[in-house]
Amino acid sequence: MPARPTTSAARPQTARLPYRDRYSLAAWVYDIATAGWSGGAIWRTRARALVHSPPGSTVLIPGPGTGRLAVEAARMGLRVTAVERSPRMLARFKKRAARDRLEVEAQLGDALELPAEPLYDTVVLEHFLNVFPPEEMVHVRDQMIARVRPGGVLAVADFTPLDPRASGLARLAQRLHHVTPLGGCALLTGNAMHSIYDHGLDLEGRPDLSLVEVHDERSFHLGPAWFRCWIFRRQEASE
Ligand SMILES: C[S@@+](CC[C@H](N)C(=O)[O-])C[C@H]1O[C@@H](n2cnc3c(N)ncnc32)[C@H](O)[C@@H]1O
Repeated sequence: MPARPTTSAARPQTARLPYRDRYSLAAWVYDIATAGWSGGAIWRTRARALVHSPPGSTVLIPGPGTGRLAVEAARMGLRVTAVERSPRMLARFKKRAARDRLEVEAQLGDALELPAEPLYDTVVLEHFLNVFPPEEMVHVRDQMIARVRPGGVLAVADFTPLDPRASGLARLAQRLHHVTPLGGCALLTGNAMHSIYDHGLDLEGRPDLSLVEVHDERSFHLGPAWFRCWIFRRQEASE
């Protein structure tokens, strides 16, 4: 597999193309498709992202999609800011929050254009980084890490990286399991095609982050554990 850059410079040019809401096509099937494909494991890894976030703390969720996690965070008493680029996804999210009479700051916009302040107690990247090709993903991830306050939490929910000790057949099955939804998303929404990202490996050795927890979830509770949540803590300023 070709080496990936793990630190970023400027955001690549492709990101500046005019925005067209291709998620409008995906919005109505998104929740059913992710739940069905993962046997609930995607939801369980996302929910895990909030275990270190106490009520009253702030959370930023870029690209919340239909907002299931953002609404759950509000239900837990977190102060939620979510920035979603797709008007159709955002509409679903707002409807969900209104149905449960929950207060969330749901903004329409590009999460990469957020102002430098405020910083958040928790930043959750739930299947958000998957949208981007490798070089741009690194840039986006760095930007989002910069939104975490010193001492705060970065949680990343994504596909579990390939295990080099697994058999060739097991790795092939895992690759197919990753490439199938990714390909569907690429066709429908214009997301990037790429190999499975290993955020743990990429961020290992960063002096400003320490890995607190890695949690894998099994499809349908019984199948292979191909969905992961990494939780990192950003160092305190004095550390
Ligand atoms: C793969 S979906 C993940 C949705 C949700 N986080 C989840 O786990 O179900 C990616 C979401 O990110 C949104 N998105 C993509 N680029 C964005 C950006 N630059 N700013 C805000 N949202 C963005 C898309 O519209 C889409 O709703």
